[in-house]
Amino acid sequence: MKAYVLNKVGNADVLKISTVDSPPLTNNQVRVKIQTIGLNYAEIQSRKGLYGWAPKRPYTPGMEAYGIIADIGQGVSDLEIGTKVIVVGQFGCYAEEVVVPASQILPAFEKFSPAENAAFAVQFMTAWVALFEICRMRATDRVLIQAAAGGVGTAAVQLAKALGCEVFGTASQDEKLEHLRKLGVDHPINYHTQDFVACIREKTAGQGVDVVLEVVGGEVFRKSLEVLNPFGRLVVIGFASLNLNKLNPWSWWKTWRDIPRVKIDAMATASQVVGASHLGYLLQDTARMMRVWDDLSRFTQEHGLKPIVGHEFKFEAMADAHRLMESRQSHGKIVVHI
Ligand SMILES: NC(=O)c1ccc[n+]([C@@H]2O[C@H](COP(=O)([O-])OP(=O)(O)OC[C@H]3O[C@@H](n4cnc5c(N)ncnc54)[C@H](OP(=O)(O)O)[C@@H]3O)[C@@H](O)[C@H]2O)c1
Repeated sequence: MKAYVLNKVGNADVLKISTVDSPPLTNNQVRVKIQTIGLNYAEIQSRKGLYGWAPKRPYTPGMEAYGIIADIGQGVSDLEIGTKVIVVGQFGCYAEEVVVPASQILPAFEKFSPAENAAFAVQFMTAWVALFEICRMRATDRVLIQAAAGGVGTAAVQLAKALGCEVFGTASQDEKLEHLRKLGVDHPINYHTQDFVACIREKTAGQGVDVVLEVVGGEVFRKSLEVLNPFGRLVVIGFASLNLNKLNPWSWWKTWRDIPRVKIDAMATASQVVGASHLGYLLQDTARMMRVWDDLSRFTQEHGLKPIVGHEFKFEAMADAHRLMESRQSHGKIVVHI
């Protein structure tokens, strides 16, 4: 089968297709023939050697995909060959086939296209856990979503708007603000050309927000705390602005400076809650993941939500898809069709 095998870290040029044996299938595993792959920012970081959850090289990257069950191992009783499914995991999906434990298989949505099915699981589950489970988001909350035009961002915006929240969403370009307006963001803010703290103070008559979803780090994280109300909840789920270069001491210092940090005494004084979450732990806890999946699927169907697919590539153009995500020109989810 064809697969991308990461032999070394580097820029997008290191992504090359190889012909490899199909992975063997053992007990309690499922083989899925992949149709569409969903890209995640963590795959950019793991290609650069900056993602702590990546396996030892060489390996095939790819955290999620949509496809059809091609084979099932002994011990798998509740899945059938030919069923359309979503696969989630930490790696293996940049390939024509992937073999995963049955616990990493989720039912595909009939009403979604293959691209939408490949775009849903990682970003909506991440946004759901952060907003509903950690921040206990309520309809009366003012919610700030950083990098709101991206994959996780557009998922988070949809969840918060469907609940009835007033939503502030940031992005680095005015074209992305247009996408945010169409998605229902009440206050789109270009955080490169505007001071988002001042904008929020102005729109809230000097108050702030009750919930922040933070994915950027550095100054964006520090300023997010400035606009968090007493009893407000901020959850960190990423640090997209960090770009550690092991050969560049300046980048070591910048990375150290920009990793989000809080002082408990300052949080106590301001009465703020700051937390963080990583989907990797959810994938290891099948019972918790299925509870999240059931709640999320029900909410998605009740509110008619769909992931925003912004860009579609062919399998051979994986490097271009990575370059687009790194360039900050993308909006919504990037998917790759086999
Ligand atoms: N904790 C978890 O389990 C989990 C799971 C999934 C994703 N994440 C995190 O959530 C974030 C979004 O992931 P995603 O896959 O949906 O990607 P994405 O949002 O589609 O793309 C990343 C976005 O980050 C913003 N960004 C800010 N500073 C950047 C920089 N210096 N370089 C590049 N981009 C920068 C860009 O938006 P603007 O140009 O508009 O600023 C860019 O579009 C990432 O930080 C990712 O690591 C965490």
